[in-house]
Order: sequence, then structure tokens, then C-alpha cells
Amino acid sequence: MFTANISLTVNTVNVSVNGMETTTATKARQLIAASQRVTLDPFVEVDWSVPIDDRAFHLPPEKLPLYGTTVWDSMTPGERYAYSRHECAALCAAGIWFENMLMQVVLRHLSQLPVTDPSHRYLLVEVADECRHSMMFGEYIRRAGTPEYAPDCSVDALGPVDSLPGGRATAYLLILAVEELLDMSNRATMRDVRVHPVSRQMAKLHVLEEARHVSFAKTYLTEVWPTLPDADRAAASAFAPHAVNFVADLVVHPHLYDTLGIDDGAAIARANPRHRERIVTDLAKLTDFLGDIGVIDDSSRDVWVELGLAA
Ligand SMILES: [Fe+2]
Ligand SMILES: [Fe+2]
Repeated sequence: MFTANISLTVNTVNVSVNGMETTTATKARQLIAASQRVTLDPFVEVDWSVPIDDRAFHLPPEKLPLYGTTVWDSMTPGERYAYSRHECAALCAAGIWFENMLMQVVLRHLSQLPVTDPSHRYLLVEVADECRHSMMFGEYIRRAGTPEYAPDCSVDALGPVDSLPGGRATAYLLILAVEELLDMSNRATMRDVRVHPVSRQMAKLHVLEEARHVSFAKTYLTEVWPTLPDADRAAASAFAPHAVNFVADLVVHPHLYDTLGIDDGAAIARANPRHRERIVTDLAKLTDFLGDIGVIDDSSRDVWVELGLAA
């Protein structure tokens, strides 16, 4: 399902068309300025002196895959805190996997952009942001006392980033999917007073810097989507729900439940109606946007609904 013999489509937006700067180039300039105002060092912003222990939840309980199941109901308060610490570490590990994948997309894009394009500097900022985020997620995992919980698939599991159906547009769509999914979780975490301070500080930093990445990906996709050949648009539309389903499923890590001795934990989490609902809610900004630009239309919406990605 995830491989296709479709040749590379570069989808590069020109810096200017008929003497007018493209919206992507203008956005890149604005985001460079934003990064000069706010660029955060996780080894300064996060107070790592606070032990990552079970004094509190590490994610809002409503965001935990087992929340609301009979397994959850049978846990003591202390077990729920510990379980949330493992889920937070698994989410950090998925975050590192996602960021590695998307940095490869961005680095490929950079290799084909002239340095005179404002997006060149902006995309280097984005890679630098993701490098700091992955260092932050790694630091949490190392201090949380959990196993690594890295997704047990290659970052090329969906195919080499340069040959995804629909080309670079699909790659940016995947970047956006991951960023919107994590953003919803991060926003709930940073505001939740029940959550451990280190987890809240990480979430806040990530929200502040990811806003730039979401903005760039949306601008790029809005500009490039109507310019794609029909065959590429069709290929990207058909591939997108399966690719988004694949990355959304990585937030459930089977090894976590083995570690905690929860029988069939991954299956229970995946079948949990509250978890399914959460995926739909957390992807709503993405699916609304994809509806607006035409990636999701009347003919493709059913697949998104059948896969449990849209209402
Ligand atoms: Fe990030
Ligand atoms: Fe990002």
C-alpha cells in the first residue's frame, strides 16, 4: 500500500511569478523574523533539575490511549501516574522518529533550492528547531527511566521521502499531519496543572516553535497543490489517508504495555472509543485544512472516515 512506482515530483514553488514574490517566499521571510524573536534552548527553558518521577501525570489523562478502559479503571492513582510517564516517553520517542523523517524531507528540499530563495534560510531554521526538539525529547526519555520505545519501523517505512506518491506535496502533508497531531496534545499538556512541570515546559516550547513549521507547511501546500499535475494530485489524495493513519498509529507502542504487564494493551488502546475519538479531534485542524485546499473531497472523505481519521 505504501510503495508506488511514481517518479520524483519536485513541487518547488518559484520565488517569484511575473515579478511578484510567491506567498511561500513571503511567508518564509516572516517566519525567519519570527525565529529571530523566539528561538528557545530546551537546556535553558526546561528545568531538568526537577526529577521525572511519579508525582503527577506526564500527559493529560484524557490523552492517554488506555484512558476510560477497564484497564484504566483498575489502576491505582500511582499506577496511572507511572503509566502516563511511560506514555509520555513513548510519545517523545515517536516525536524523535517523526522529526527525523521530516528533517529528511526538508533537507532534500533544501538541496534543490537556490540559496537566494528566502525558504532556504527558513528551512535551515526549521531543521535547527527540530534538532533541538529531538535533543529535548531524548533528554526526557533518558531521565524518565523507561525503555526507549522507538517505533519499530524505519523512517523510510512509507517509502523514500523523495518518491512518495504526489512528491514533495505529500511529504509536506505528512509533516503537517504529525505537527498538528502533536500540537493538539502539546497544547492540552502545557495548560494542564495536573501535569508534571518538565512535561508542561517541553510542551510549551514545542508549541511556540512548531507554530512556524505548521504555518510554512500550510502556505507551501496551499500554493503548490493547485499547480500539481492531475495525476500527482490524485496519487497524493489516495495515499494521504493511509500515510496519516500509519503515523497516527505510531502513538500506540506495543512494547510499552509489555513493559507494564498489561495484556493486550495495544489492542485495547487501539479499540478504545475515547482514543479513537481523540485521534479524530486531534486531526481535525489537519482534515479541515485538507478539505479547504481540496486534498479531501467528496470522493475521498469516506476513506478518512473508514480509517477513523475524520468524523
Ligand atoms: Fe519539533
Ligand atoms: Fe516541526
